[in-house]
Amino acid sequence: MSATLAAAPLCFDGQVVLVTGAGGGLGRAYALLFAEQGASVIVNDLGGDLKGEGKSSSTADKVVEEIRAKGGKAVPNYDSVEEGEKIIQTALDAYGRIDVVVNNAGILRDCSFARTSDWDWDLIHRVHLRGSFKVTRAAWNHMRNQKYGRIIMTASSSGLYGNFGQANYSAAKLGLLGLSNTLAIEGQKYNIHCNTIAPTADSRMTQTVLPQEFLDALKPEFVAPLVVWLCHESCQENGSLFEVGAGWIGKLRWERTLGAIVRQKNQQMTPETVRDNWERICDFDNATKPKSNREMISTLQEVLNNLNERGVSTNPTSGTIQTNTSGINPAEAVGQKMPRTEYTYTNLQPILYALGVGMTTRDPDHLKFIFERNEEFFCVPTFGVIPAQASMNGALASVPGLNIDFTKVLHGEQYLEVYKPLPTSGTLKSEGTIADVLDKGSGAVILIDVHTYNERDLVCYNQFSIFVVGAGGFGGKRTSDKVKATMNPPNRPPDAMISDVTSVDQAALYRLNGDWNPLHIDPNFAAFGGFKKPILHGLCSMGFAARHVLKQYANNDVTKFKAIKVRFAKPVIPGQTLETEMWKDGNLIHLKTKVKETNEVVLAGAYVVLEETVYKPKTNDTGMRGELQSDLVFPEIGRRIRDVGKEMVRKVNAVFQWDITKDGKTAAQWTIDLKNGSGELYKGTARHQADTTFTLSDEDFIQVVSGKLNPQKAFFAGKLKIMGNIMLSQKLEIILKDYAKL
Ligand code: NAI
Repeated sequence: MSATLAAAPLCFDGQVVLVTGAGGGLGRAYALLFAEQGASVIVNDLGGDLKGEGKSSSTADKVVEEIRAKGGKAVPNYDSVEEGEKIIQTALDAYGRIDVVVNNAGILRDCSFARTSDWDWDLIHRVHLRGSFKVTRAAWNHMRNQKYGRIIMTASSSGLYGNFGQANYSAAKLGLLGLSNTLAIEGQKYNIHCNTIAPTADSRMTQTVLPQEFLDALKPEFVAPLVVWLCHESCQENGSLFEVGAGWIGKLRWERTLGAIVRQKNQQMTPETVRDNWERICDFDNATKPKSNREMISTLQEVLNNLNERGVSTNPTSGTIQTNTSGINPAEAVGQKMPRTEYTYTNLQPILYALGVGMTTRDPDHLKFIFERNEEFFCVPTFGVIPAQASMNGALASVPGLNIDFTKVLHGEQYLEVYKPLPTSGTLKSEGTIADVLDKGSGAVILIDVHTYNERDLVCYNQFSIFVVGAGGFGGKRTSDKVKATMNPPNRPPDAMISDVTSVDQAALYRLNGDWNPLHIDPNFAAFGGFKKPILHGLCSMGFAARHVLKQYANNDVTKFKAIKVRFAKPVIPGQTLETEMWKDGNLIHLKTKVKETNEVVLAGAYVVLEETVYKPKTNDTGMRGELQSDLVFPEIGRRIRDVGKEMVRKVNAVFQWDITKDGKTAAQWTIDLKNGSGELYKGTARHQADTTFTLSDEDFIQVVSGKLNPQKAFFAGKLKIMGNIMLSQKLEIILKDYAKL
């Protein structure tokens, strides 16, 4: 079987091949061989002289005649490669498709660099580089549509190694390699392969350069088979470079020394350190063979990790470790004030912010945040981070005692306290102070307090907690009384949960609020930071969480919002679903925001403080109906279960599910599990099989728990439906009896 395959000719039947500059030399040999292998060939040649002057149709015609004389299929084309569209049109007119493009046409205008005129430079580039671009681009979409294509670029050893008198030519030839490398990447998914050859052969080009005896052994026929193989559909080679001549073929690749890191953490890089490391920079021992840009990025990441972990001056994989020096001096930095800044805005910015944190016209209640003519038009309270953040842009770099590497800065935590609803337009003044600097060993934490004023009124206060990876170890304190601390949620199931799908463009939208870090939009930059995709701004997730709380517990009334604190635990990719779990503890709402798809916590230790009033919970995200009185009662029952749950589990040993209706439709579901563990109450259907399910209206539920309606009577009156083990309902008394007073 394999013997048969090996012997099988590389057939090009039904395929259409364009060879540019096919009137002589190498191109002619390619055209003849392709035709012999069954291809229909477009023989392109302008027919000018070696320097690119003049034109003639006979050059292409002769080769077409040769092919036809042998029984092959060919048509001529006399356009310059600069007219790529016309050449491809010839292929489409004659044969209806284009499968292979061999960019071969070329000229020479040799002269020493000093004598190279603009014309010498431009013409060479126009024929070689621009010509290959024009022809290939004209064929590209046809290849993409048919999901097949093979392309050859013709470079030259003069480009790879340089050659006296060929500055123009070498530059264009190596340009073709760059073009080919990128086309190989862009074409891969369409089965379009692009390879480059650097041939050596006897032709009018080489006749003045190489001795005739040598040239006699360098027939173009000794190059053509490589080109034909690379262009066959069974050849999977892509993005490669070959030197070829005299029947020999070799493949080339890049080689890179291990190199050396020549800077120290938090210090300037100097020419002297480059000089001192020169030998190691240039030492090819244990050299690597990088194949892609990505490898370059991972090398740089390795370098940065290495610098941070060890604070060293070394190469990425081995070398001498030097002492870690931090550029942080707390005594100098703490108390430093940053320049006072002004943030002037119109209605536009609060609306942009509201849209950025997911407010939508789908929710009529959101109109007051996104429609400036709404009679209750307000800023989302967390808009308060925007003027404060604007005040920090670039300012940190000028703070004495904070000589830090800004590529290693992470936004760790955020606290925002709002004293008055923020104006929907105007000018706010912000003033930042370095509140404290902490030494966490693996890094430094910089606490920045920013106070924001409207005229003389303090409207909000932010505390930014910035973590600088690898900048610890300066002998500073680990904690500070200035820290606005995080708080863990209670150890019980959440009282409520709201989820929201972020848009794939959420970060693209949020950044328009003034956070221009490319990490949030540029895939290459994100990859450089070690992320698979651009990530959402932590402050955007915070905005989502804040409005979840505002909706659940404050009826979207911004005057009830006092403060929020979050720790950014994990990144979010735009498009993921944010789930905010909430625990109400008086006016303190603990919250935890997770990415639903991964179950990873992204906002941890977080909470919102509301004004002291008790608010009726609003609609939850399950699409069920809000404003339920039972929503206030169940958490109370849950509290009791926490206190005496174990004892109840022993006495009751059952799982009860409650389906609470409003206007005849299920409005909420709750489960009281007094069978598993030490008992629990949670919102939603039973996670373990329910023994008994009760269905009753919100109003009747309140009547029952307040002792005004006897459950048996409710049952017989059809107000209470019971499914499952009806006998167990007698045990309900144990749970509900304390609520008669409610
Ligand atoms: P050649 O001069 O025999 O063939 C080049 C052909 O291209 C000519 O027939 C010419 O009329 C045609 N041509 C020139 N400008 C054109 C344009 N604007 N539009 C259409 N056709 C045009 O030279 P050779 O040696 O066959 O070269 C083929 C390719 O191989 C060239 O790109 C050359 O730079 C490259 N090359 C050749 C080497 C060799 O040892 N022969 C060494 C390295 C590279």
